Amino acid sequence: MKIAILGGTGSIGEGFALRWAEKHEILVCSREIERAKNVASDYKNTLSNMGIHCCTITGCDNEAAIKDADVVVLSVPYQGVVALLEKLKPLFKDQIVISLVVPMKKNKMFEFVPPRQGSAALEIQEILPKTVKVVSAFHNVSARKLAKIEFILDYDVVICADDDDAKKTVMELTHDIKNLRPLDGGGLESSYMIESLTPFLINLAIRNKLSDLGIKFA
Ligand SMILES: NC(=O)c1ccc[n+]([C@@H]2O[C@H](COP(=O)([O-])OP(=O)(O)OC[C@H]3O[C@@H](n4cnc5c(N)ncnc54)[C@H](OP(=O)(O)O)[C@@H]3O)[C@@H](O)[C@H]2O)c1
Repeated sequence: MKIAILGGTGSIGEGFALRWAEKHEILVCSREIERAKNVASDYKNTLSNMGIHCCTITGCDNEAAIKDADVVVLSVPYQGVVALLEKLKPLFKDQIVISLVVPMKKNKMFEFVPPRQGSAALEIQEILPKTVKVVSAFHNVSARKLAKIEFILDYDVVICADDDDAKKTVMELTHDIKNLRPLDGGGLESSYMIESLTPFLINLAIRNKLSDLGIKFA
């Protein structure tokens, strides 16, 4: 599968690129092509140094990648998402778009600050063409742990989507990351629940002197 990671140069994009590269073709995307190429090359070196040589990771600008991809991962901060998608939306056709986007801000502690639609995922679905299948997932996975590919992520990933086939594809992509367990979280209207867990987990970590918490339902 060809997976474009918009904002793939950032914190959580790195872990997805490294962990999916053995099975999938990865396009590391950026607003700046040179940055994308440099970061893609760094990711390849990281894998080579671990003895993993058989993967395709290419640096790309956001525009070129969308046209080409089966799956587009939205891995950019909430503050940049609306402007970015308003610009890029004519390039989308019927791709699966995975939103990991958490609309939150820091006051005394971190707060969930949803848009009028109720969640980032619903806002993204409203912006993109109706033929695009938005899937909400991975909000509660720590970027730092994801990027350490030797680290076993024994966590759950709640996945919300209105399109069953798209949800199934993202569940399979979740299984491609060792030990992550995908759980069906219902339709996209439930996304606000998993998005709002992220600031809660960060506050919990701060209050209890922990870091990079994930979730496991048992
Ligand atoms: N970090 C985590 O642990 C974590 C966990 C779960 C979910 N998330 C969610 O995943 C998304 C990415 O998080 P992150 O921590 O990886 O973010 P990040 O490192 O701050 O940014 C990721 C990339 O987004 C691009 N970007 C930054 N500002 C932008 C803007 N205004 N418009 C368009 N592109 C912009 C940049 O790429 P270029 O400059 O190369 O274009 C940057 O490298 C967020 O929505 C976050 O809520 C993060």
